[in-house]
Amino acid sequence: MSPDHGLLMYEGKAKRIYACKDIDSVLVEFKNDATAFNALKHSQLEGKGRINCQISASLFELLEQEGIPNHYLGLLSEEWMMVQKVEVIPLEIVVRNIATGSLCKQTPIIEGKELSPPLLDLYYKDDSLSDPLLTESRLEILGIVSHAKRLEIEKLARWVNDFLKDFLDKIDLVLVDFKLEMGINNSGELLVADEISPDTCRIWDKRTLDSNDRILDKDRFRQDLGGVVEAYGEILKRVQGVTSKPRNYK
Ligand code: TMP
Ligand code: ASP
Repeated sequence: MSPDHGLLMYEGKAKRIYACKDIDSVLVEFKNDATAFNALKHSQLEGKGRINCQISASLFELLEQEGIPNHYLGLLSEEWMMVQKVEVIPLEIVVRNIATGSLCKQTPIIEGKELSPPLLDLYYKDDSLSDPLLTESRLEILGIVSHAKRLEIEKLARWVNDFLKDFLDKIDLVLVDFKLEMGINNSGELLVADEISPDTCRIWDKRTLDSNDRILDKDRFRQDLGGVVEAYGEILKRVQGVTSKPRNYK
């Protein structure tokens, strides 16, 4: 059942964003749609929206407790959350602790290589251009963010990585890599936005060494490994095992 909401403002591949009474907030609905390879591959996965909403809520609350600024305000139902309205910066901020995915497809870097310090790359968020990797010079020409803002974004993303990597390690999960989006709220603050879920992170299970079984994220969908929702559910179970239930929006 959907809560009261205003107009649909934006529909992405995995979420819908609705206006609400408070002009500083918006409502996010997590969808069951799963897409990969710029939506060339598409399925409905029953239960995915609920699980990703719950995982994101719990992780955002942990970030908040750590003092990491983010857009989360509270849950309205199992698939709906209230967040601060932000102007989304059109960058996909990817942090990698272990080499895999596009990094190993596009370079001779060996799969599984530990990246220390973690590698941080910025991609331009535009599906019609397939989210191209940016260089510092390209970013400067594009003028999306100032040099100072870029440094602030990178510092925030590394802080999220340090914190989440340690947290997930305690529940026997490896944070391989992840994508963040950030935005500026109506008070001009830089916030972590979007979602933090197995759709946007690579997470491996430390409790098994099998190279397929250990995958608990969207790579199961990308690689047709099956058991996608079950894997996401395992992450949720471990996260909820050590955190309190995410708060409801008052
Ligand atoms: P990549 O290895 O395909 O570049 O992906 C790096 C990380 O970013 C991985 O955790 C998955 C995530 N990601 C997204 O959240 N959205 C995307 O569109 C892509 C390509 C990757
Ligand atoms: N998020 C992208 C898509 O939906 C790519 C991916 O996650 O693999 O197509």
